[in-house]
Amino acid sequence: MLAIGCDHGGYDLKLAVMKHLDERGMAYHDFGCDGSSCDYPVIAKTVAEAVASGEYERGLLFCGTGIGVSIVANKVPGIRAAACSDTFSATMTRAHNNANILCLGGRVVGPGLANLMVDAFLDTPFEGGRHQRRIDMITELDKR
Ligand code: RB5
Repeated sequence: MLAIGCDHGGYDLKLAVMKHLDERGMAYHDFGCDGSSCDYPVIAKTVAEAVASGEYERGLLFCGTGIGVSIVANKVPGIRAAACSDTFSATMTRAHNNANILCLGGRVVGPGLANLMVDAFLDTPFEGGRHQRRIDMITELDKR
């Protein structure tokens, strides 16, 4: 189950990705917004806390660049949010960073590339091994 949210800058891309998720049969909950102007820290915090609580396995966040929502989401302990604009990064942030939120920019990427990145993010397992040690170091930072 995915938690999804956007601000006005990411709204159109969110709709395109939700259509893709529907076609994949992937369940999600949309935390908003409805396309009207809103503040990305509000929705990013909501989605990040929903993922950090364990209620949702992973999240997708959208804003104009993907950067604002990623900055906010990464302030929530337990969240590893990655702003990506290429499929290699979307794949590797799962394989090596065990990222649990993918952040996309509606003014940066089109729906075709975004859907490929979402597929990579959903389908790539965490490799574990030496990467787990590094994730543990990040988790230690969360505890400060
Ligand atoms: C909104 O205009 C824009 O600043 C926001 O969507 C995002 O790109 C911020 O990082």
